[in-house]
Amino acid sequence: MLQLIGVNKVFNAGTVNEKVALTDINLDVKPGDFITIIGSNGAGKSTLFNMISGYFYSDSGNIILDGKDITLLPEHIRAKSIGRLFQDPMLGSAPGMTIEENLALAAGHGGWFSHISKKDKSLFREKLALLDMGLEDRMKQPVGLLSGGQRQALTLLMATMNPPKLLLLDEHTAALDPATADKVMEITKNVVEEENLTCMMITHNMGAALEFGNRTIMMDSGKIILDIEGETREKCTVDDLLNEFKQRAGESLDNDRMLLSK
Ligand SMILES: Nc1ncnc2c1ncn2[C@@H]1O[C@H](COP(=O)(O)OP(=O)(O)OP(=O)(O)O)[C@@H](O)[C@H]1O
Ligand SMILES: [Mg+2]
Repeated sequence: MLQLIGVNKVFNAGTVNEKVALTDINLDVKPGDFITIIGSNGAGKSTLFNMISGYFYSDSGNIILDGKDITLLPEHIRAKSIGRLFQDPMLGSAPGMTIEENLALAAGHGGWFSHISKKDKSLFREKLALLDMGLEDRMKQPVGLLSGGQRQALTLLMATMNPPKLLLLDEHTAALDPATADKVMEITKNVVEEENLTCMMITHNMGAALEFGNRTIMMDSGKIILDIEGETREKCTVDDLLNEFKQRAGESLDNDRMLLSK
């Protein structure tokens, strides 16, 4: 459903600040895949998402979504079929607007001051209740009052209100305390399963990378150095992943957030 064919990205090419971010990335994401992505700092994980979402254009190569070449399609057009969450819970929702206004915008049923139908309100209430964070009773409160975890859960709900073809999660639980991160991860798993979403999730948590999803990709220095699924992945432990990284990258995995999470 998503193909990356020979995708390359170099920042500041030809200058002293030249940085090769992605080298000849080839990836075939199948419908319903839930791919977890791990790798060292600066490996190119977020850049990969920036290429897919259209935040940056690739220097060369092609990106195909559902059979359509989207390589040169602008970000706001791709956003109709690609949902994205970031590490920062402050991104993705409007703090001055209420929970129900944010959800109405996400549903495409309204903007500032527009009427929100009773039907929509009860749908929002139902979906909020599933988060199990008490947000269904706070629909008229501004989003700015929510905690980081509540806000991230709401953003996830907004990003999947109209189920996207592809959901990109860039360390979306990394800024949360461990208990809240677990909760948001549980919600993520449920949403992905219920909506049958195709999802790619960057995480610094090696345990989570193996626990969630059906396929794991490891990146280093702009390349995909490991891509496992099925039985190979089921048998894989965190230590195996670390050893694989060392063998394939020629050095130990260096990721500050990953080390902090151990
Ligand atoms: N806008 C940019 N301008 C210049 N260089 C960039 C830009 N964005 C990313 N880079 C560089 O490209 C490389 C890949 O960065 P990227 O953010 O994709 O890494 P990452 O794997 O997401 O790392 P992290 O685990 O730290 O989030 C890094 O060397 C980074 O400094
Ligand atoms: Mg990143």
